[in-house]
Amino acid sequence: MEVVAAVAAWAVTSVCQNAGSEHWLSAVCRRDGNATDLAGRLSPGAAIYTPGSDGFINATSRWSVFDAPTVNIVVVPATENDVAETVKYANEQDVPFLAVTGGHGAITTVGRMKTGIEIWMNHLQDIEISADGASAKIGGGSLSKRILDTLWAAGKQTVTGSCECTSLLGPGLGGGHGFLQGRHGLIADQFLSMNIVFANGSLHHIDKKTDADLWWAMQGAGHNFGIVTSVTVKIYDIEYSDWAYEMFTVTSDKVEKFYQTINAAIPNNGSLPVNVIHYGYFYNDPTIDSKGPVTAFWILQEGATSVDSAYTQPFHDLGPFATEAGSGNYLDLPVWTDLDNSAAPCQHTGFANTRFPVDTQTYDPQAMRKAYDLFAKASLETPAFNGSFFLIEGYSLQGVKAIPSDTTAVPFRDGNLLIAPVIRWDPSDSTLAQKAADLGNELRNIVFEASGQSELLTYVNYAFGDETKQNWYGFEQWRQDKLLAVKDKYDPLRKFSFYAPIA
Ligand SMILES: Cc1cc2nc3c(=O)[nH]c(=O)nc-3n(C[C@H](O)[C@H](O)[C@H](O)COP(=O)(O)OP(=O)(O)OC[C@H]3O[C@@H](n4cnc5c(N)ncnc54)[C@H](O)[C@@H]3O)c2cc1C
Ligand SMILES: *[C@@H]1O[C@H](CO)[C@@H](O)[C@H](O)[C@H]1NC(C)=O
Ligand SMILES: *[C@@H]1O[C@H](CO)[C@@H](O)[C@H](O)[C@H]1NC(C)=O
Ligand SMILES: *[C@@H]1O[C@H](CO)[C@@H](O)[C@H](O)[C@H]1NC(C)=O
Ligand SMILES: *[C@@H]1O[C@H](CO)[C@@H](O)[C@H](O)[C@H]1NC(C)=O
Ligand SMILES: *[C@@H]1O[C@H](CO)[C@@H](O)[C@H](O)[C@H]1NC(C)=O
Repeated sequence: MEVVAAVAAWAVTSVCQNAGSEHWLSAVCRRDGNATDLAGRLSPGAAIYTPGSDGFINATSRWSVFDAPTVNIVVVPATENDVAETVKYANEQDVPFLAVTGGHGAITTVGRMKTGIEIWMNHLQDIEISADGASAKIGGGSLSKRILDTLWAAGKQTVTGSCECTSLLGPGLGGGHGFLQGRHGLIADQFLSMNIVFANGSLHHIDKKTDADLWWAMQGAGHNFGIVTSVTVKIYDIEYSDWAYEMFTVTSDKVEKFYQTINAAIPNNGSLPVNVIHYGYFYNDPTIDSKGPVTAFWILQEGATSVDSAYTQPFHDLGPFATEAGSGNYLDLPVWTDLDNSAAPCQHTGFANTRFPVDTQTYDPQAMRKAYDLFAKASLETPAFNGSFFLIEGYSLQGVKAIPSDTTAVPFRDGNLLIAPVIRWDPSDSTLAQKAADLGNELRNIVFEASGQSELLTYVNYAFGDETKQNWYGFEQWRQDKLLAVKDKYDPLRKFSFYAPIA
């Protein structure tokens, strides 16, 4: 133990010495001389990564580099207590800190962390299934793919994000959409209890009984209150192992008809059948369509080896440019939808990716036409934006809506569709940031204004960062008051106010 601690201490010390007191990297060192103290407090398996090392680069690389936090040093806890010790240390040194797991959190507010400690959660990935098979204790740094595979091997599953490379808690603390939400609700709806490190560095076990208001707040606004070192979630037997998909590539001349077709496929005031999911996006591909963006659209069906033609025929009738179909099991869904670890959305390639989400009840085909036209025009005028895309997500909703809205901090249970332009650009051109924000907001407004809704709800985990607390957490005053009261109680000094802060 001493040997390992000494090695970690050496790594920190050497950077302090190399960096010199004037160097931007040296905020930790400046205050302390060196971080031997911290290394000595951590368990033998913990690591400290210093700038320039492979570990540091891996731990700090992000899906979107725009308004990224500035990290001086990375601590990689090997135990839940290591997280607590790191928070205590940061507090003693008066250095800010931020938990990072999948590195897909892109909200610009995280950029407010300047010269801080990143707590990289990725070594806390233990998954233990309970003896009765009804729950699993999942390490606070677990990524979706590991959870999917581990549970699947045991004949189990639970709600995770759709993407293999995001964590459970990054999405889950803000609600968390996923392919199984129609059956079981959001990721946050699976939480039974958790271990959490509060702002003062103490590690506690919490559930609904320890403090009902805190528990309520963890389900939807949870990034604000602590670092979750493990969470116990509901898990389920695999009831339907078969899944099937059809995928349609649709050209821009069919935009109005395409969205009319989706609306017609969702007759029940927004409810797709519980076993059917719509997912897609539009993007530029001049080799398919030189006049406007191309739409990639998936229909997924659970418990089937081919998608029921009642769901697909109307889309075939549109005369799509191409179609594709296949079948497999639940683990294939991310692969089919380009959300697996090797797919583009999982790569950290140094781009700025900024999302501008808006929840709606239905598609307005004319507004979608306007959005396509603006997207096409902007991609021509500013070719640097031509790798942008625009998400259209229609998950099934029964499990989400079955849970009364006031029982968690999730404000969007009534929303049927998750629509979000994603403006992508190379951040080395500093003239693009404002232009990207203007374009994203303009696209979002087109959809919002046509929605007939009076309140703009922007899914907090997709938010750009310039929205209001009401946009993220709901317009009901009681929600805002309750969140603020919990914040004042557990985080009076606002240590957890980088990711979509309530205050
Ligand atoms: C390609 C892609 C696919 C996505 N798919 C989905 C999806 O299917 N469903 C969905 O709902 N969302 C999805 N999202 C959005 C996603 O919810 C957010 O981007 C989320 O922040 C990602 O979490 P992360 O751990 O990967 O990111 P990180 O940047 O590591 O974490 C985000 C924030 O979460 C907090 N945090 C991280 N770990 C912990 C912890 N253990 N305890 C407390 N706080 C913590 C920190 O404040 C951190 O800034 C997707 C995003 C991308 C880019
Ligand atoms: C770092 O701190 C430790 C413990 O306080 C001390 O023994 C060591 O000499 C210091 N190293 C440097 C380079 O200051
Ligand atoms: C960094 O990531 C790469 C690619 O995943 C991996 O091969 C390498 O071992 C990692 N390095 C460290 C120090 O974690
Ligand atoms: C984007 O623009 C560049 C030129 O700036 C061009 O080379 C590339 O093919 C374009 N890509 C798309 C998808 O339109
Ligand atoms: C549709 O559902 C929403 C909430 O889910 C509800 O407010 C609205 O009244 C419903 N509309 C119709 C026509 O049933
Ligand atoms: C730390 O904060 C928690 C939550 O507010 C509180 O329960 C606990 O007593 C505090 N611990 C210390 C040592 O102050």
